[in-house]
Amino acid sequence: MAKAPPIKHQCRECEAICQGWYGKCPSCHAWGTIEEVAATPDAKPGRITLSKSGSGAGGPTPLSLADQLAPVARVECGIHEVDRVLGGGLVGGSVILVGGPPGIGKSTLMLQVSARLARNVGTVLYASGEESIGQISSRARRLGTEPERLLVLADTHVEGIVRAAEKIGDALACVVVDSIQTVYSVAHDGLPGNASQIRAVSAQLIGFAKSNNIPVILVGHVTKDGQLAGPKLLEHMVDVVLSFEGDEERATRLLRATKNRFGSTMELGVFEMTGTGLSEVSNPSEAFLAERPEGSPGSCVTASLEGTRPLLLEVQALLAKSCGGSPRRTCVGVDSTRLAMLMAVLDRHGEVFALDQDVFVNVAGGMRLFEPAADLAVLLAVASSHLRKPLARDCVVIGEVGLTGEIRQATRLEPIGEGRARG
Ligand code: TYD
Ligand code: MG
Repeated sequence: MAKAPPIKHQCRECEAICQGWYGKCPSCHAWGTIEEVAATPDAKPGRITLSKSGSGAGGPTPLSLADQLAPVARVECGIHEVDRVLGGGLVGGSVILVGGPPGIGKSTLMLQVSARLARNVGTVLYASGEESIGQISSRARRLGTEPERLLVLADTHVEGIVRAAEKIGDALACVVVDSIQTVYSVAHDGLPGNASQIRAVSAQLIGFAKSNNIPVILVGHVTKDGQLAGPKLLEHMVDVVLSFEGDEERATRLLRATKNRFGSTMELGVFEMTGTGLSEVSNPSEAFLAERPEGSPGSCVTASLEGTRPLLLEVQALLAKSCGGSPRRTCVGVDSTRLAMLMAVLDRHGEVFALDQDVFVNVAGGMRLFEPAADLAVLLAVASSHLRKPLARDCVVIGEVGLTGEIRQATRLEPIGEGRARG
């Protein structure tokens, strides 16, 4: 009698192999994702088949020659805030995942990037499973850009998208897929957006990018808790993960790299959503401080280094009489544990007795300040609000505050070269 293939347990999110069935994956901690799969000897995940030379396709390469054999070629799209976050432009054959909440402006940004690439570099294929060609074209008109080399495709089959991209041939500069959750592969079961479809679609698009040396941009949705929807594995598969953030009440949009195989993850791109698309904010400090009230207590300016660019940011604090119970500490853009520590330091070493007050701290413009060098600005904003004394308008403070009340010098205070100091 033929022996039944052995059964193993595997997480469908992260593909980790488990000893048995678990409700929660021991590797990625997702619930209800462990399922039984037949273990076939030649389909073992994680097993790498080595070529005869003992390495990948080309055999081992001296590291000192690697740059000459496979140089990293970049194309700038011409939108400087995007190019800077990418580390200097799009790398040929790279796969970039752009995530963000619905309505934040992902499709708008990608259409603007596509239009610039089409104008400056070559043909761009913009495949959308979310919007009709009519909708995309009316958005392009609103953005004031309809270059000839921008081709739109309303197709939800990954096979059709890859075929259309291959047909363009050498003229192709970039492929954009909006969104990865709406596209599916006919060769796989399941509805678009489920983990195995996302994995299959991404694998085909990554394969296309690598074998044709064409950058591919995938737009992805995020879940309610801000995580990219779909298997966690997707973030490991792509080269760059960008997050597009902002809130509905404000026009400011921030682009950050949370993973970048070809550059830093510290750079920040700043945009403003206008009636005619996203416009670059080349001097964010000016924009963030534009509405700073004059002579008001509770406001302090600090400088924060976002990648290579120093930004001036305003920390605001408001202290108010607490109405019984334990006083509230509400922080937006600042760490609440750090605030509690600074309140204790002020009480013990600064003779500002405000531990019984409700404290609200906010970084203006929706920015975040989690570096210790922002301590002094938070502390002074709190003290200024409590004592009702405004700080000098042209005062900028940077410094970490220690538990004994000492102020420590911030790191990375060295002078920045002319080109880097802009903004
Ligand atoms: P969109 O790019 O569709 O968001 P996403 O792809 O992340 O879901 O942007 C939608 C929002 O942007 C919508 O609320 C309208 C606004 N918007 C503008 O304010 N100005 C514009 O020029 C465009 C095209 C959109
Ligand atoms: Mg969209």
